[in-house]
Amino acid sequence: MLLPVLLLASQPEVPTWEDVRPIVARQCAVCHAPGGEGPFRLDRASDLAARRTFAAAVVRDEIMPPWLPSHNGLEIQGRGALSDEDRKTLLAWFEGGAPYETDAKPAVPLQTILNADQTIVLPIEEGFSIPAESTVTIHTHTHNVRTFALPVVNDEPLLVTGIRWDSPIVNAVHSVAVSADATGQSDLADSLEESAGYHMSGDVLRRPAGGLGVLGVGARKLELPEGFAFEIPEASTLVTEMSYRPTGRDVPVTGSLTLDIAHPEDDVRKLDTFIVMKPWIKLDAGERRKEIGDIEIPMDLDVVAMSPRGDHFLRSMRLIAHDPDGGSQVLLEYPDWDMHWRQTEVLAKPLRIKAGTRLEVILDIDNSDDNPRNLFYPAEDLILGRFTGVDGILFHAAPADPSQYPAFSEWVDSSRG
Ligand code: HEC
Repeated sequence: MLLPVLLLASQPEVPTWEDVRPIVARQCAVCHAPGGEGPFRLDRASDLAARRTFAAAVVRDEIMPPWLPSHNGLEIQGRGALSDEDRKTLLAWFEGGAPYETDAKPAVPLQTILNADQTIVLPIEEGFSIPAESTVTIHTHTHNVRTFALPVVNDEPLLVTGIRWDSPIVNAVHSVAVSADATGQSDLADSLEESAGYHMSGDVLRRPAGGLGVLGVGARKLELPEGFAFEIPEASTLVTEMSYRPTGRDVPVTGSLTLDIAHPEDDVRKLDTFIVMKPWIKLDAGERRKEIGDIEIPMDLDVVAMSPRGDHFLRSMRLIAHDPDGGSQVLLEYPDWDMHWRQTEVLAKPLRIKAGTRLEVILDIDNSDDNPRNLFYPAEDLILGRFTGVDGILFHAAPADPSQYPAFSEWVDSSRG
């Protein structure tokens, strides 16, 4: 009579819905809930139980959630690859028959409360439609991009603590890269084309698109950690670079950008954005090569977030910090880069990097027919160039000593050449 009891005791316990609910909220329901970008609902226990075989397969094969970084880097706030432990728990629930009570609560993604003093809403001018099919332009690497210039009309500098993209278009927009422009360049570019926006990238001179962050699929809201803000100069225009995917029919673009603004007297640390990148890449048809970009940090910095940038020819990207004492650490790794899922990665906690640290990004660039994302078949000789980097990683950081902010900003400007 003892034996069955022992057998029972050695069976792994099937987790309950309450055990998996927070994981589902964070890792699935952000996209698979009404209004989300996933193709069906998975926020209720019954939805997920009904699709448990398929869901288990995509979780086991690490296809879902589609967040890009591997487990091999720093911890990303709220998301990032599933931890091994969370994956085990989810799979055990699926494999145990996905049990739930009839009154099970749905998995609702956390809505963080903002401490914004005010918000500013900037609507996208209507009149541009995402075309039914791709149009290839001479700027090969900027095709399927539309940039909108949205004047803020601020007569003093503003401290931006969060940015949100609202749009009814859920499956044709990949990423929205935002930056601030006080030079008038982007307004001029916008005025030169008849329909809303313009077809070039959102870089302004040598300032990169995405300097204020990149809003990705399932992450249409970027919230900076408490106590940090981007400063945008007076009379700024918000440059909004939208990457899209043609879906076989014309999709008129409507939407808006909302800024959370801190009170001018709030005690916040100002961020600026520098980039570790490769500014030009030449590859013959069929060539695959490693490229490296690097930069040395002049002062102690706290990094709060990073925004990757990569094109169709990038297969993988790894970011390493080499500190002056000889140690090194992988900060971020994209083992299978896909620009579709690009977004700003906010770190779970700010990372201190010391003066003299060399940040190195290692890029695997593939212009062969084996690259499933190559724009050309058969492959063609390529020359890609962008002052702000064809491929690389933007760092959103503040000096460890806040009084060093002007010197930091000066270095950021000069590092752009
Ligand atoms: C960032 C948004 C996002 C998150 C987070 C996400 N999904 Fe998805 N999911 C999608 C999208 C978009 C698709 C449609 C396929 C595509 O575009 O690649 C999809 C497709 C799927 C499919 C169908 C797969 C197929 O090949 O058609 C399943 C099953 C699925 N997701 C389960 C999950 C589960 C389980 C989680 C949580 C562990 C999850 N997803 C998290 C966006 C997301």
